[in-house]
Amino acid sequence: MPENIVRHAHKTHRSHRELLNGHRACLLWFTGLSGSGKSTIAGLVEEKLHAMGKRTYLLDGDNVRHGLNRDLGFSDQDRIENIRRIGEMSRLFVDAGMITLAAFISPFRADRDTVRERMEADDFVEVFIDTPLVTCEQRDPKGLYRRARDGQIRDFTGIDSPYEPPEAPELHIVNDGIAPEEAAAQVVRYLQSKGYLS
Ligand code: ADX
Repeated sequence: MPENIVRHAHKTHRSHRELLNGHRACLLWFTGLSGSGKSTIAGLVEEKLHAMGKRTYLLDGDNVRHGLNRDLGFSDQDRIENIRRIGEMSRLFVDAGMITLAAFISPFRADRDTVRERMEADDFVEVFIDTPLVTCEQRDPKGLYRRARDGQIRDFTGIDSPYEPPEAPELHIVNDGIAPEEAAAQVVRYLQSKGYLS
């Protein structure tokens, strides 16, 4: 705990903001390999929720790394710090009353678990976008796997940097041979069935 810093108890709370929004807030944490479809699926989930009148905000690897985390690279230490900052930022968005969607490789289990532990129970919904490495590599939407295989990019997840799959995600979506729309619909159905959208 930082020294000489005292929390101020503000009068307007998350619960007031949720009441105004007409639904609760939570954090949907999409994890998976590069090219697994995390951003695409998270984007479609956000569109669906928005169309249902829900307040949402999507944080994703490629855009956060251009701003807040532009000082970070892809060493283990930098990825740990990347996820720590995003976790803290996500907490603020949830406190602001948003259904927050975070789409990051977040390769290390311990870092994802730390984000979970920093949230209230049930606020954290881990969505594992499980796409086999061969499929991600075949898709290679940004040409990064080819460059990693050629040795032009070091520490690339799945090639020479590890990915630790979740052991007990709330949602496990095998995104191989299904349309992104179907994957997004699975997420929305889960949220509905668990009472997240009311
Ligand atoms: S994380 O590992 O720290 O969670 P994050 O999701 O923010 O990664 O960023 C991943 C994106 O950065 C990838 O989708 C890819 O476009 C790009 N990228 C660039 N270099 C690498 C690398 N060495 N490993 C993985 N992704 C990389």
